[in-house]
Amino acid sequence: MNWYDYVLWTGWMLGLLLILAYSFVLFFGAPYLPTMKKQREEALDLLGLTAGQTLVDLGSGDGRLLALAAERGFRAVGYEINPFLFVYSWLRTRRYGWRVKIRLQSFWQADLSQADGVFVFLIAHHMGRLDKLLSARNSKQALKVVSHAFPIPGKQPFKRSGSLFLYIY
Ligand SMILES: C[S@@+](CC[C@H](N)C(=O)[O-])C[C@H]1O[C@@H](n2cnc3c(N)ncnc32)[C@H](O)[C@@H]1O
Repeated sequence: MNWYDYVLWTGWMLGLLLILAYSFVLFFGAPYLPTMKKQREEALDLLGLTAGQTLVDLGSGDGRLLALAAERGFRAVGYEINPFLFVYSWLRTRRYGWRVKIRLQSFWQADLSQADGVFVFLIAHHMGRLDKLLSARNSKQALKVVSHAFPIPGKQPFKRSGSLFLYIY
């Protein structure tokens, strides 16, 4: 193999890895699409957390919401299964130190016992399963949940602001 073949082969392999990392998540949750700045701000306003409380982003993508939460003085925990997004978001939020934790793990196994607020931007056909996950949470404390774009089927939102739905569990 000469150097040209080697570069070409490496390029193909990297491309394939990227495609796989971004497409396999479709089986487990939603594809990557970041929430815009305006909605990120509104989502945190809607959750109404106070400094020191914990926000969990189920499918935290590139970590933008986690960074904003940390800037507002919250603890932020993200679950992300795309390894590229996990590394990118970890690098992006490193400067917030202990305030931000990101787990390379499926959010279907998320520990929500310490969460005060949850943010999700998923896909319609996973919202019913999400409802079960949130309802099965092992805590007596009320949990505020904001879903971007997709309502939870059969559950009345406590409040709505544009494409954001606030629920209380
Ligand atoms: C629509 S994006 C939302 C990203 C971020 N929360 C935001 O609003 O900007 C959904 C993210 O969830 C991730 N994801 C999908 N299924 C997942 C699962 N089962 N566990 C953890 N992350 C998942 C995807 O890789 C993607 O980054």
